[in-house]
Amino acid sequence: MTAGLEGIVVAQTVLSHADPARGVLWVRGRAVAELVERHGYEGTVALLWDGFAGHGLTRDALKETLGAERQRAFARVDTWLPLVAGRPLDEAIRIGLALLPDDSPPAAIPATLAVFTPALVRHAAGTAPLPPDPRLPVAADVLRMLHGVPPNAAKARALDAYLSAMAESGMGPATFTARTVASTRASLVAAAVAAWCSFTGPLHGGAPGPTLDMLDAAAAAGDLDAWIEAKLKSGERIAGFGHRVFRGNDPRAAALRAALVAMGAAASRLQFAARLEQRLAAVLDRVKPGRRLPANVEIMAALLLDAVGIPRQAFTAIFAIARCAGWIAHALEQQQTGRMIRPASEYVGPKVEP
Ligand code: COA
Repeated sequence: MTAGLEGIVVAQTVLSHADPARGVLWVRGRAVAELVERHGYEGTVALLWDGFAGHGLTRDALKETLGAERQRAFARVDTWLPLVAGRPLDEAIRIGLALLPDDSPPAAIPATLAVFTPALVRHAAGTAPLPPDPRLPVAADVLRMLHGVPPNAAKARALDAYLSAMAESGMGPATFTARTVASTRASLVAAAVAAWCSFTGPLHGGAPGPTLDMLDAAAAAGDLDAWIEAKLKSGERIAGFGHRVFRGNDPRAAALRAALVAMGAAASRLQFAARLEQRLAAVLDRVKPGRRLPANVEIMAALLLDAVGIPRQAFTAIFAIARCAGWIAHALEQQQTGRMIRPASEYVGPKVEP
């Protein structure tokens, strides 16, 4: 038994494969850089959903479907906003997803996230939510609905790169949750709501916001080595470092870094991130010899989301626009097996003989 199920294969999948030793992640046989450069978010989602239970759509058809679903989602905003007044964004999103009827099409899930997230950010700032523009790709429309102005092309491309690179990454906790729920023949919406709940924790999809907080705190520390050492000695997890699978180079980090450079993001922030990673490795060598904690994808993700103007309380919901594509594909794939997920536990409590 392994407490975190590490190394346990729980499904056969055609969706993705990670080779951490080579620093490669294939999604439907494509490397992350190819998804970003050639497929974009809509194309990546179309690849992921292709062939499952009649959900195969071309990139253009999916773009149209996602546009129509965003419009449907906007029609629900007025019912939802009063229900979530004053709630933190992640809680409001949980409620928003849960309002979807069980028989909603798969595209309703990313569309709801794409519309409700900017609506809530604007509402909290005292501005009215903006309706979607169904002709735009999701990334550009999210930025337009958030900021109320036509999207800056470089920023829209950077967010599209993020959504493409982060759409699928194998059996993370939320994806496993989605497969487990779908295996009981509950609906895709039920699987997505459960996956969202699993996703929001700071060790998983909740990591990018705390990672930006961490970068700010580290940058403000007078003595970086002393700051890192105090964190490591306290036993606290430093957001943005460590990964269950990628113990070296995470190919998504390279793709997001390239997107940041292409949009002309401040070089000083990238330089600081590199310095932090290098100092953390050096301090680890001294404080915890033998332990390796390479930077994970969240540092580049946090810098990118911040650079395109997403407020940090919305990072997890924006991340979920990407990742729910993977949850849904896995849920559909699991349903095809027809087998309910039901592992075993080992009893270690006292035994009272009758
Ligand atoms: N900061 C400090 N210590 C860390 C750490 C971090 N970010 N990540 C792991 N460790 C420590 C663990 O506490 C453990 O210490 P212990 O043996 O004294 O208990 C040791 O390193 C080995 O942990 P490991 O088995 O490699 O971690 P994991 O596979 O259980 O956890 C994460 C993986 C991602 C949950 C973990 O690295 C983490 O919490 N990272 C920060 C949150 C984050 O960025 N998440 C997003 C991931 S993409």
